[in-house]
Amino acid sequence: MNGRKRMEQGGSHKNKDAEKPLLLVSAALIMQENRVLLTQRKRGGHLALHWEFPGGKLHPGESPEQALVREIEEEVGLQIEALTPWAFVSHDYGTFHLLMPLFRVGRFYGTPQALDVHAVAWFELPSLRQLTFPPADLPLLAQLFAEQGLT
Ligand code: CDP
Repeated sequence: MNGRKRMEQGGSHKNKDAEKPLLLVSAALIMQENRVLLTQRKRGGHLALHWEFPGGKLHPGESPEQALVREIEEEVGLQIEALTPWAFVSHDYGTFHLLMPLFRVGRFYGTPQALDVHAVAWFELPSLRQLTFPPADLPLLAQLFAEQGLT
C-alpha cells in the first residue's frame, strides 16, 4: 500500500516535470595555449550578446557528438575531433529545461570565423570574469577555473 502510494506520487511528479519542454544542446570546451574559445550570441534573441561555450541543439537522430561537430562547423568553421565528455549541465530556464552535455575537444582544424554567431574569440581564463554568460554556463566556469588551479 505504502509502496503503491509512493509510486503514484512519483508518477505525478514525473508528469509535472514532463510538461516543461526539454532542450538538448551539445557544447564544446575548445582550448589552445591556456585560452578558451567562446562565441557571442546574436542580437535580439534569447540571451542576446551573451558569451557562451559554443554549441547548439541536437537534430533528430543525431548523437550529442555528431550535433557538436555540425554546430561548430556551421557556427565558427572549425573541424573538431577527439571529443571526450567534460561536463553535464541541467538547468531550468523557466519556460524550458536545458540538458547540455559538454565535450572537451582534443583536436581542431581551421581558424575560427563568426559564420553564424555575433562574434567568436579566444579568451585568457582570468578575462572570463569580465564577460556575461548564460546562467547555465556559470557552473562550467567554476569547473574550468578549479581544473586550471584558479580561484
Ligand atoms: O544554435 P541553436 O539554435 O541550435 O541553439 P542555441 O540557440 O545556440 O542554443 C539553444 C539554447 O541553449 C539557448 O537558447 C540557451 O538557452 C542554451 N545554451 C546555453 O545556455 N549555454 C550554451 N553554452 C549554449 C546554449
